[in-house]
Amino acid sequence: MTDAQPIVYLNGVFVPLGDAKISVLDRGFIFGDGVYEVIPVYGRKPFRMPQHLARLRRSMDGIGLANPHTDAEWERLVAELCSRQAFADQSVYLQVTRGVAKRDHAFPTGVAPTVFMMSNPLAVPTREQVERGVAVVTAEDNRWRRCDLKTTSLLGNVLMRQLAAEAGAVETVMFRDGFLTEASASNVLLAIGGTIVAPPTDNLILPGITYDAAVEFARDAGLPVTIRPVRREEALAADEMWLSSSTKEVLAVTTVDGRPFGGGKPGPVFRRMWEVFQARKPR
Ligand code: PDD
Repeated sequence: MTDAQPIVYLNGVFVPLGDAKISVLDRGFIFGDGVYEVIPVYGRKPFRMPQHLARLRRSMDGIGLANPHTDAEWERLVAELCSRQAFADQSVYLQVTRGVAKRDHAFPTGVAPTVFMMSNPLAVPTREQVERGVAVVTAEDNRWRRCDLKTTSLLGNVLMRQLAAEAGAVETVMFRDGFLTEASASNVLLAIGGTIVAPPTDNLILPGITYDAAVEFARDAGLPVTIRPVRREEALAADEMWLSSSTKEVLAVTTVDGRPFGGGKPGPVFRRMWEVFQARKPR
């Protein structure tokens, strides 16, 4: 291989991707026993870093894993990782696992966590996707009941996302017991009669940093927002449906299960939200 390899971070050192190696006994590999974050970086400036670090702490607390770094250390490490990439807009992936130990479900003692970080070019939606909207499929949410923790155990989400991939769609929007939860790697927001409506961030969905940003930016811009549980029928009859995530920003859904949704084009509330979001993200 002659191409320069991206620089990644593993357990205290920055190394070319191909040199970053971990044990097969890492509990991330064996059990999916770890947590992660995806942080969007615009022009080398992380977006909502304190919020991402707070969610990381919350995820670690939720799985009984001690945070190996202070927020200031994480910020320094992420800044250094970003400075070592050739591109300015980045998607930083960081994960912490419970480390390397003989296989036993119970937590090992005296084991250092594994810390890994990489950065890829931030691929926000194309102009065409923003203007035409995207397709989703729907499915019953069959994941565990701690979807509020951003854990690396993502098989449930992987299988959901694959349903979308096989249908040529970008996401699978899920419902649990008749209520809207989220999508396989994004939150879901709706517009109903001019009001933005989104499900509460309880234990059944990930408290999305982009969801929070969108709600805050919308309120600041005078757009009405209501957070409440939404029944499947109401979600599927909404005027507009959007996805939100660190890599999708806000993105309109215009096809659901193969049928046009919301008139088949991004609606007026989405267009306003998208403009407000673009104006408020770092540049
Ligand atoms: N996914 N819900 C799920 C299940 C997610 O995996 C994500 C993010 C979100 C949106 O969260 P945020 O706005 O903080 O990105 C909601 C990331 C991008 C991923 O796993 O790649």
